[in-house]
Amino acid sequence: MCGINGVVGLKNISEVLFQGIRNLEYRGYDSCGVALMNKSNLMVQKNTGGVEEFFRKGNILATKGKIGIAHTRWATHGTVTRDNTHPFTSCDGAFALVHNGIISNYRFLRDGLIGEGHVFRSETDTEVIPHLLEKYYKKHKSVEKALVKTLNILEGTFAIAMISTHHPDQIFCARRESPLMLGIGDELKFVGSDFNAFIDYTKNAIIMEDDEYAILSRDSYVVKNFLTQEEIVKPITKIEWDSETAKKSGYPHYMLKEIYEQPQTINTALELDSNLMNEVVDMIDVSDKAYFVGVGSTFYVAKFSEYLFSSLTDSFIPAVSSDEFALLAKVDSKSLVLTLSQSGETFDTISALKFAKSKGAMTAAVVNVMGSSISRLVDKVILQGSGPEICVISTKAAFAQMIILTILALKLSLKRKKIKRREYDSSITALRELPEVIQNILNERSGFIHRIANNYSKVKNWLYLGRGIYYPVALESALKMKEVAYVHAEGMPGGFLKHGTLAMIDQDVNSIVFIPPRSDKKLYESTIHSVEEIRARSGFVLGVHFDEGSKNRDLFSEEIILPNVKPIVAPFVQLVIGQLLAYFTAISLKRNVDKPRSLAKSVTVG
Ligand code: G6P
Repeated sequence: MCGINGVVGLKNISEVLFQGIRNLEYRGYDSCGVALMNKSNLMVQKNTGGVEEFFRKGNILATKGKIGIAHTRWATHGTVTRDNTHPFTSCDGAFALVHNGIISNYRFLRDGLIGEGHVFRSETDTEVIPHLLEKYYKKHKSVEKALVKTLNILEGTFAIAMISTHHPDQIFCARRESPLMLGIGDELKFVGSDFNAFIDYTKNAIIMEDDEYAILSRDSYVVKNFLTQEEIVKPITKIEWDSETAKKSGYPHYMLKEIYEQPQTINTALELDSNLMNEVVDMIDVSDKAYFVGVGSTFYVAKFSEYLFSSLTDSFIPAVSSDEFALLAKVDSKSLVLTLSQSGETFDTISALKFAKSKGAMTAAVVNVMGSSISRLVDKVILQGSGPEICVISTKAAFAQMIILTILALKLSLKRKKIKRREYDSSITALRELPEVIQNILNERSGFIHRIANNYSKVKNWLYLGRGIYYPVALESALKMKEVAYVHAEGMPGGFLKHGTLAMIDQDVNSIVFIPPRSDKKLYESTIHSVEEIRARSGFVLGVHFDEGSKNRDLFSEEIILPNVKPIVAPFVQLVIGQLLAYFTAISLKRNVDKPRSLAKSVTVG
């Protein structure tokens, strides 16, 4: 949800600024802007469109500056126009500022400033900030004092970076509830929404906490609390990811690359610290009530986990969408809230966590991004280590979380003696064999799935059906189709069909049914029953099944046949098919795969 970055150095930094903001484009990409300063000559340029287009058309790299800030926007307040694009400046042109978050008291502040003669040029909440800075600079004659005063007046959430002609060699930045990091290089200092902003230049990061501000110059930095103004000595965090893993490595899209990295994420999940895993298992075990909480794909990870834990551990742990959590859940000090988040920065999930903590609940998380807000907020965090996920829609990160939750469920099941050691071992072995199974599917079936996706890419409506744990598989697969191909896809439990939806079956509505292996007899038969209900109304069914060489093939209008695997890993194989169908449909429809419309990688606003 908006990326911000800033760089200060000795030489011209416009190219460095470009690299950094381009690496953050997955956070938002409807408009882009920069402010560059040379001596006290401040130049601001901005426009609608993506980062590359903006830099190219505006010939931004021709502008020289030793200090600069940049922004890539995902609109929340105000439509996508040039005027609403960051950076915003004060009336006197002495302050330029970029912001991620929402200033909730901006209307009140704006009215006051207009009354004092300030002229506003945008519809955004952000624009009040440079005007407040100008106002308080006039009073205090100090940029730092003006900043502290302003930060204490703002309500809501913010990560900001600002430069001022009053201090042409310093970047000022601050955060409250929106992510912000500093990058500490030898010759360059950075501020960024996350470390992708500076990973090409330094791996030394400082994670800013709420209510902190920092002042960066080329060879020094200071971090202070803006409530107390006390200086804070911050530890340096070494970023473990390298910039190479964040590159496309020959794949046409990050989405495909990340789908192909899934076998590796399974191995990584299997190698996670087992003491840490056991500690989280113990937390679930001792809690009176537990919840799985996530939103978007991670809500479907939660839903998947709900089924897993019901069947394996005999306890019902409801999945709740983060945005609904405070409205629905009942938590106290004996509750456990286990959150799932790829980015670790999702506003709704952070809000759910804060609600849980305010009630004294125990908290845990599975998160992919180290140093992220959620990873620091919870009592216990499992860092999944799936590596950078650059495509805006989540594939490998959500997939790896499901693997991790499967391991946790198996461990709890063993602990509670719901399964025997032999069964536990054979399930872990099935997980160990899964990377190869998936690799083979990717290598051997992708071409076929591509053809199917091409043949049906013009279909406007899909029903995605599954029963039991295949229901969240259907939900997640349908979400992928909506997110990346913009095709209407509705995930539903198979049993729901006869309660109204069958009326929709005609030549305009196709169905995909995720069918479990035959060895899961009851589930298999009830799923096939759903297929028959659709076929009896001459509906189209794409069956995704494991019946190699069986006699059910005439049941489907089209089929994708998978190698037979153990039931514990079968849903994962189906998930990969859902991802590939969405990917190839998007290719066929010429969608912007890695940066689909109306979506941001980490939604840091509510
Ligand atoms: C956004 C992303 C989705 C993601 C969801 C939750 O909607 O575009 O891909 O599933 O946020 O994000 P999180 O980082 O918390 O997993």
